[in-house]
Amino acid sequence: MRIGVYPGSFDPVTLGHVDIMERGAKIVDKLIVGVLLNGTKNPMFTVQQRVELLKKATAHIPNIQVCPFEGLLVDFLKQEGAGIVIRGLRAVTDFEYELQMAQANRSLYPAMETVFLTTNVKYSFISSTIVKDILRHGGDVSHFVPRSVLDSIYFLGGSNHGSSDGN
Ligand code: PNS
Repeated sequence: MRIGVYPGSFDPVTLGHVDIMERGAKIVDKLIVGVLLNGTKNPMFTVQQRVELLKKATAHIPNIQVCPFEGLLVDFLKQEGAGIVIRGLRAVTDFEYELQMAQANRSLYPAMETVFLTTNVKYSFISSTIVKDILRHGGDVSHFVPRSVLDSIYFLGGSNHGSSDGN
């Protein structure tokens, strides 16, 4: 079975992430969405909240599983028996960081491969950072996040308001 991991902070999940998950799930048998716990960023949403939002946002994709992970991504891959990492590329500005990560991961674990999916142009300007900024200022994020999580994001984003930064 071909197992892939789509790792990230997902703080919170956006329409761009869902697009990558829908397409990524078609190229592997099982796609594990790995939600980074204790990253260097100070998130707006707790890891439990991010996992719940992701579960709602991906309920329509049968071969997806959402799991928090801690530590090195390559250790999570080994633990899950996964050989593929899926990442989305929005623009050339993403490339340098993504290339570095892919090369660092492969030097730590040569059996893995990173597969980049280009973001759908209609979502290429969307990021979790922008969503959080709009939320902090009480704006409308309905064009940026999945409909299935919109109410929860307003509720949680409002209650966690002010505690955050990061992507
Ligand atoms: O959504 P993000 O914040 O761009 O995702 C970054 C993520 C979670 C993929 C990356 O920070 C990561 O894999 N962190 C785990 C620690 C690790 O393995 N670091 C070494 C390779 S960069």
